[in-house]
Amino acid sequence: MIIEPRTRGFICITSHPKGCERSVLNQINYIKSKGKIEGPKKVLVIGASTGFGLASRITSAFGSNASTIGVFFEKPPAEGKTASSGWYNTAAFETEAHKEGIYAKSINGDAFSNEVKQQTIDLIKKDLGQIDMVVYSLASPVRTHPTTGMRHKSTLKPIGGSYTNKTVDFHTGEVKEITIEPSAGDDIENTVTVMGGEDWEMWIDALKKENLLSSDFKTVAYSYIGPKLTEAVYRKGTIGKAKDHLEKTAFTITDSLKDINGKAYVSVNKALVTQSSSAIPVIPLYISLLYKVMKESGVHEGCIEQIHRLYSERLFINDTPLDSKGRIRIDDWEMRDDIQEKVAALWKEATTESLPTLGDLEGYNTEFFNLFGFKYDEVDYSLESEEVIDIPGLQ
Ligand code: NAI
Ligand code: NA
Repeated sequence: MIIEPRTRGFICITSHPKGCERSVLNQINYIKSKGKIEGPKKVLVIGASTGFGLASRITSAFGSNASTIGVFFEKPPAEGKTASSGWYNTAAFETEAHKEGIYAKSINGDAFSNEVKQQTIDLIKKDLGQIDMVVYSLASPVRTHPTTGMRHKSTLKPIGGSYTNKTVDFHTGEVKEITIEPSAGDDIENTVTVMGGEDWEMWIDALKKENLLSSDFKTVAYSYIGPKLTEAVYRKGTIGKAKDHLEKTAFTITDSLKDINGKAYVSVNKALVTQSSSAIPVIPLYISLLYKVMKESGVHEGCIEQIHRLYSERLFINDTPLDSKGRIRIDDWEMRDDIQEKVAALWKEATTESLPTLGDLEGYNTEFFNLFGFKYDEVDYSLESEEVIDIPGLQ
């Protein structure tokens, strides 16, 4: 069929297999161009199909020749209906990995569930024996708790009072004020249950119990801090409470891994266009200004550049550098004073009329559609494309 982008709200409900393949090949080529990393050899990536998780899987496989198992939650294709982009990304990734003799298998299901954990454990036992790294990169709006069966929803709300600021609808370019009402009831608890560290710890506990973690095992989960501008809705909002919890959990997990000299890290990453960040109010305006400033200063990075730096300059060197709270920082360039001062100045001036020149609205828009395999110059979108594509190593 001929596949075109169709948007609903801030998301795109179609995706293009050729464009997703392009995106994956670009990331693989980037990693290959950087040479070998003395990194992990057997890796489980939870949240492996898009964004930072996909970049981690690609960096593991093509940077240090690692066998990878990927876990994700994606919509399979059907006749006349495209899959979600993470499905096509994974199909392209596995095809390339297998061509080079690199082990890659995947599990599509709810990572929060006991069933998917058990399925993963069985696959590791059968194929890999032990693993030396787990990347935890889930971003989800909901979690059904495996013991209580309760379904929790995460929210993106300020705490203590309503918050008013500018935002942009990046589809229309309209800059306007929005007011977000503060959290109420169980919003904070629910958000911590979904996006905090409990599930990460459950994964590591379950794997350790089965003796599937090798000595010197490492695990990393991803967090965000960001500037004053977005603090009320991000770091000091409901999602920030979940990130506080995730960051604390790293220490709990490290304690539980003492006997195998294991270590759990949180890496604070840069703000990037992903399916998850597009859904957060205010953040798209911030990102479009940030991209402009970082590109002009020559320090812009996407997911793959970020994760390459994480592996080669943070995780897999002697003495991983940490901040005063024990976190890895690869948001260092985003948070540079000169970058933040420029963004803050532009923020004040940004209007519907001025944003296209002040900010990188076009870059934002292109990257957003790139997430779904659209707007790649190399792809001829007028051609028919097969929509039903298999993931070769899907279990
Ligand atoms: P994403 O939306 O691109 O990726 C989310 C992944 O989780 C996908 O592979 C998806 O299939 C998987 N997933 C979601 N629910 C699942 C479930 N129930 N079971 C199994 N898999 C499931 O998100 P992104 O942006 O890469 O986020 C990953 C982590 O990075 C999150 O913790 C996020 O907070 C963090 N982060 C994101 C930043 C950004 O600007 N995008 C900045 C810093 C940190
Ligand atoms: Na991810």
